[in-house]
Amino acid sequence: MIVDIKNIGIDENELKSIQEKIEKAYDMLINKNGAGNEFTGWIDYSYDNNTEEYERIKKAAAKIMSDSEAVIVIGIGGSYLGARATITALNGEHHNDFPGNKPRIFFCGNNLNEKTIINAKKVIENYNISLIVISKSGTTIEPAIAFRLLKHQMYEKYGDKAKDRIYVITDKKDGALRKIADSEDMESFVVPNDIGGRYSVFTPVGLLPIACAGIDVDEILRGLRDVQKELLTKNFQENPAFQYAAARYILGSSKNVEILVNYSSELSYIAQWWQQLFGESEGKEGKGIYPTSLNYTTDLHSMGQFIQDGNKIFFETNLIVEKNGYNVYITQDENNYDKLNYLSGNTIEFVNKAAFEGTFKAHLNGKVPAIIIKIPEIDAYNIAKLYYFFMLSCALSSYMTGVNPFNQPGVEEYKKNMKELLIRWS
Ligand code: PA5
Repeated sequence: MIVDIKNIGIDENELKSIQEKIEKAYDMLINKNGAGNEFTGWIDYSYDNNTEEYERIKKAAAKIMSDSEAVIVIGIGGSYLGARATITALNGEHHNDFPGNKPRIFFCGNNLNEKTIINAKKVIENYNISLIVISKSGTTIEPAIAFRLLKHQMYEKYGDKAKDRIYVITDKKDGALRKIADSEDMESFVVPNDIGGRYSVFTPVGLLPIACAGIDVDEILRGLRDVQKELLTKNFQENPAFQYAAARYILGSSKNVEILVNYSSELSYIAQWWQQLFGESEGKEGKGIYPTSLNYTTDLHSMGQFIQDGNKIFFETNLIVEKNGYNVYITQDENNYDKLNYLSGNTIEFVNKAAFEGTFKAHLNGKVPAIIIKIPEIDAYNIAKLYYFFMLSCALSSYMTGVNPFNQPGVEEYKKNMKELLIRWS
């Protein structure tokens, strides 16, 4: 992975001036003595001391793939975005239209929209199905309501055998979901105590649904092992996570918004995962850069005008894939009415590269500071590295601005208000 910060309008001296700050943040994180240190289990996470659970994840995924035409993944926030992002990036945005020999994967319990539940119920009616329900607390209302309804339907459809098609991922001891899993004898996996939702993609929270989609989780763990070796080093100049965090820190003093831009729309859910990671980790105590995202070139035709010419409250972070490997060639046309024959023999990726270079130049001209993050390709290995890179950068950035990256007091407040209202209204 390459992070290029040459075009953010910052000189070497300015960058150097924050070296000490970022190194201090790194020490706090690695020595696990900063705010929220009880949630830093993701830093050195591996299954080396828990191969039994890893093998069970793979076995459960193999069973699901053999007995289910579809899987519904119930969860919200950090309990579903990593899986959805990975499946969409690797199997494509339309993975359910042409699933081949893999199960279709649906997501539910991530909102309070009745239509989503109605659709999920139709999925249960129409396919041989498995349910994966994920909630660390086991009490979040959106997945809890979805699970209650869909579980009942599973029992109606499969009788006692329904429990063999329901997989629970939750806390080891606490929460309603743990009680249900244990009392109804469902297969369950543990969300480690020391890892919060948005940092949990490498735990069973991410791995079980990802494995069910036919994605090679061994490659994900190989990426995790390699990226831990690469990034857990205190080297300001060479460590891409340090460079990204440093650039954001400096840009954050004059810009309020960061736009994560991609030119490969299958990365759009990775952008949503990234938004949650940075938004929930950094946005507190009146601080933080508001994270948002755009899919180019699609959004150039809706937001391009604003980016080029509007109020410059933002900077762009370009997430670029060096080689997609699809090789879709533009064909020759005898009549050439559309005047595209000059492109024939080239791939659409070639045109997309020109779109990136052209847009990048235009936006720089429009005074938009731009970071570039390059990944070699979209595969399980490189996506795993990308997740870890973002998690590390985010924790460093948060410590640099003096906030706890691992709590979400603002989210708790809405939940409390909603519950009080529901009790009063019922
Ligand atoms: O990052 C987080 O901790 C949150 O986004 C949670 O993942 C989200 O609120 C869901 O919580 P839970 O897994 O307890 O249902």
